[in-house]
Amino acid sequence: MSWNRQHLLDIQSLRADELTAVLDTAETFKGVGQRDVKKVPALRGKTIINLFIEPSTRTRISFELAAQRLSADVINFSMEASSFRKGETLKDTAKNLEALNADILIIRHRSAGAPHFLSRVLDVSVINAGDGAHEHPTQALLDIFTMREKLGRIEGLKVTILGDILFSRVARSLIWALTKLNAEVTLCGPPTLVPQRLEALGCRVTHDLEAALAEADIVNLLRIQHERQQQTMFPSLGEYSKLFGVSIDRLNQMKPSAIIMHPGPMNRGVEIDTEVAESERSVILDQVTNGLAVRMAVLYLINGGQVPTQPETTSSN
Ligand code: NCD
Repeated sequence: MSWNRQHLLDIQSLRADELTAVLDTAETFKGVGQRDVKKVPALRGKTIINLFIEPSTRTRISFELAAQRLSADVINFSMEASSFRKGETLKDTAKNLEALNADILIIRHRSAGAPHFLSRVLDVSVINAGDGAHEHPTQALLDIFTMREKLGRIEGLKVTILGDILFSRVARSLIWALTKLNAEVTLCGPPTLVPQRLEALGCRVTHDLEAALAEADIVNLLRIQHERQQQTMFPSLGEYSKLFGVSIDRLNQMKPSAIIMHPGPMNRGVEIDTEVAESERSVILDQVTNGLAVRMAVLYLINGGQVPTQPETTSSN
């Protein structure tokens, strides 16, 4: 079976079986990363452009390495040194990159919908690496890959997403992915950042941290996205940390089997204490490792690769 999608723009428009197909393919690629020789020829001769018009560490490097491990040629477009500074539009920049015979364009942009716009005006494949506060599809895919790997399934899992949900593209993509795969999602944080109306996305909203932690199989922590907030959403970072930060005491109130996730970048001492980030229950660095396998899978499937028919075992337990 092939994936039959030219672009990866969001999670909202994907079906549950398409999500599972990415996870199954990523399992195969995870094996490649554990070999002595970490390269396969799947995308040899293809050109991939990383067009990141917003800061990024993990996502850009992860896509770059994923492309290299598939033997593609990869170009990193740097915003600082580009003609954006000279007033060139996004469309013109992208058209010029396409004129160099690029095959796949990976874009991160501060405006929601920028990847969707490019997919309409270009012929190349477009992958969304984060558009404003809208979606970040590969982050959700690596998150659910890690959940399935650690806990053996997604269906029926109780997942609490804690923090700045309102401004988080990570949260939005993850909510879509988890609800499509029948997990139970609870959103928690201050009412200004987690308004009740988010229940329309098919999840529960609570401002009771103790309850949200006690029931969870997974707690996914999010950073406060200061750069997107137009006004002060809570009194101070100290206040936030006291009311909603996960300390070791709060970790101890969770189920003994529950795990901690975070997409990064972390703000230690605000949403997460160092002891929690570095505890055995934290799978934050596994998420980074898995991100590489998931992005290899996405590039491979977008390029027309086949989904493996017999996935390897999914649980590490
Ligand atoms: C996130 C992002 O940029 O959306 N980081 C990431 O890609 N791992 C989350 C964030 O910036 O807080």
